[in-house]
Amino acid sequence: MSAVIIYMSRHGCAEKAAFMLRDMYWKNVTLVNLGKSLPPALDGYDTVIIGGSVHMGQIQGKIRKFCIENEAILLEKRLGLYLCHMREGEDAVRQFNEAFSGNLRKHAVARALFGGEFTLEKMNKVERSLVENAGVPESISRLNADAIENFGKVIFHLDKS
Ligand SMILES: Cc1cc2nc3c(=O)[nH]c(=O)nc-3n(C[C@H](O)[C@H](O)[C@H](O)COP(=O)(O)O)c2cc1C
Repeated sequence: MSAVIIYMSRHGCAEKAAFMLRDMYWKNVTLVNLGKSLPPALDGYDTVIIGGSVHMGQIQGKIRKFCIENEAILLEKRLGLYLCHMREGEDAVRQFNEAFSGNLRKHAVARALFGGEFTLEKMNKVERSLVENAGVPESISRLNADAIENFGKVIFHLDKS
């Protein structure tokens, strides 16, 4: 099995999740940060994981564009979709549903909300004041390691080996 994790991350949380997934199945996983690299050709991969994070209600535009432009081929792959976020409950689910099309969500074998982190020292002034005004005085992590592990087990078939 060869897999690619295509992700974007503003302050490192969705990237941390990508690294954790890669480390669960280190044999043959390629990481592609769409913020730094061109989109990969998907032909050589049977498994594709797409991950991003929500800022001001939206997943990264390049992830959204990649999903739209490659929907047909993604529907032929073993697909996983994840999101990092700090809103919870119905808000988090709604953001996930807005980030990925119904076709991709239905086709994906693994879909998950991983939670997220506020890392104040990595934010610019505007971001920091937005977050501080929302009542967050210091950095916090609510990244859900169990959710990442469960997602990895499903997408990489680790329970069946
Ligand atoms: C300026 C700003 C806006 C954010 N807006 C949202 C939002 O609309 N919904 C949400 O669930 N989380 C929001 N978050 C939280 C991020 O999704 C969270 O910090 C996530 O872990 C970021 O992942 P990344 O570092 O991989 O980009 C926001 C964070 C910042 C700094």
